[in-house]
Amino acid sequence: MIVNLILTFAMVALISTYHGVRGLDNGLALTPPMGWLAWERYRCIIDCEKYPDECISEKLFMRAADLLVSEGYADLGYEYVIVDDCWLATNRSADGMLEADKKRFPSGIKALSNYIHSKGLKFGLYQDLGSKTCAGFPGVLGNEAKDAKRFAEWEVDYVKLDGCFSDVRDMDKGYVEFGKHLNNTGRPMVYSCSWPAYQEFKGMRIDYASIAEHCSLWRNYGDIDDSWSSVMDIADYFATKQEFWAQYAGPGHWNDPDTLLIGNFGLSFDQSKSQMAIWAVLAAPLLMSTKLSAVRPEFKEILQNKEIIKISQDTIGVQGTRIFRDEDIDIWSRPVRPVYNGFCSCAVAFVSRRADGAPYAYKITVEHLGLLNPNGYTIKNLYGGKYANNINNQYVSRKSVVRVRVNPSGVVFLRFDVNKLKEGNVTALNHTVEFT
Ligand SMILES: *[C@@H]1O[C@H](CO)[C@@H](O)[C@H](O)[C@H]1NC(C)=O
Ligand SMILES: *[C@@H]1O[C@H](CO)[C@@H](O)[C@H](O)[C@H]1NC(C)=O
Ligand SMILES: *[C@@H]1O[C@H](CO)[C@@H](O)[C@H](O)[C@H]1NC(C)=O
Ligand SMILES: *[C@@H]1O[C@H](CO)[C@@H](O)[C@H](O)[C@H]1NC(C)=O
Repeated sequence: MIVNLILTFAMVALISTYHGVRGLDNGLALTPPMGWLAWERYRCIIDCEKYPDECISEKLFMRAADLLVSEGYADLGYEYVIVDDCWLATNRSADGMLEADKKRFPSGIKALSNYIHSKGLKFGLYQDLGSKTCAGFPGVLGNEAKDAKRFAEWEVDYVKLDGCFSDVRDMDKGYVEFGKHLNNTGRPMVYSCSWPAYQEFKGMRIDYASIAEHCSLWRNYGDIDDSWSSVMDIADYFATKQEFWAQYAGPGHWNDPDTLLIGNFGLSFDQSKSQMAIWAVLAAPLLMSTKLSAVRPEFKEILQNKEIIKISQDTIGVQGTRIFRDEDIDIWSRPVRPVYNGFCSCAVAFVSRRADGAPYAYKITVEHLGLLNPNGYTIKNLYGGKYANNINNQYVSRKSVVRVRVNPSGVVFLRFDVNKLKEGNVTALNHTVEFT
């Protein structure tokens, strides 16, 4: 109980103090960015003769833009189309400018940017703070002001700046300065920094206050791979660091656990639901990295779940945490609007780490989840499910018992909305509600 009380105070405190952190102020990324980013699924495939549908080329990004719109993603907020590594020509031009590979981007970057904008979407481009990008193409080192200016000319809306071939000890200065060059162009651009991820691996003390002041989002940890173990590895790492990291998240500045894998090869349906839920709780950017034309309908439903997108994009902008682990069920929780009398509403994800075959029944009282509003809550099951129809908007008190049945490596994801008025005799209401 003591643990739970502390949690509750921490959550209430979150609302008032977490936004004390001074963050980047360029009016962008007020909620976690949403869109599509090539890297996880397409890596550095550059052989367009062998792999015409998969190679890093203007066609790939034009197709992604088309599908974001035609498949309904754009309407739900997925707006950035982000080019990752391997778009560049081997060398800068004779006059020292960055150029795209002429074979794979015959129309040039400005034309691609125009195309993406013509679809009502925004354009993201990758570069690297060091002498080379991770795949060995020219980086910005020594050309920072010029390159920032070129991004602005290309009407880039989002810059992902990687950290390969760069000394981690120079990053505190280098990332700040590149941010200033971006700012000096006068064009607002989301600034995604890989700064802490590289320092994390060197065991350095990381200046997150400066990172949050200069970057819109930042990669804290290694690249995601197409597997459940990679998702869990990242989730565990975030949970280990959460007390420290969560305080730097807020409107305009976010921690970034990397892209969504949903729709690809490695995650089952249940695991995909779990990744979407954890990412929403973490206030993570929702950047898909998948072949949009091949996403099966049930996976598309996960990516397009409006209620979960609403949790992700909640405007209090507090990053949730893993509040505890019990019986191999991880409980993730994020305060969201509406807030009433200092009590927030809450998204709670019960994520199973179990593999013992049957869905696992777990129960817990509302107050043990740290939810102490004296007027109780109304619960919604965000993935629907067997009990969704008759139990949605079910009223519970602090004393009520919530019973969930969670599939192996799956999730039950619930939203608890604070009630403003007492409904009935709240102290006596101690019934059990069940969700699968
Ligand atoms: C540049 O920085 C100032 C001060 O933080 C900010 O108000 C402004 O919006 C920024 N402009 C751009 C284009 O990023
Ligand atoms: C790129 O520049 C390097 C070093 O200046 C040079 O050796 C190489 O031939 C150039 N490659 C191309 C494809 O122009
Ligand atoms: C509410 O329930 C409590 C506990 O069962 C009981 O003691 C109390 O008398 C009830 N109050 C009303 C107004 O019914
Ligand atoms: C829950 O309520 C029932 C009657 O509604 C009562 O018999 C029972 O003692 C209560 N349990 C707890 C733990 O308060």
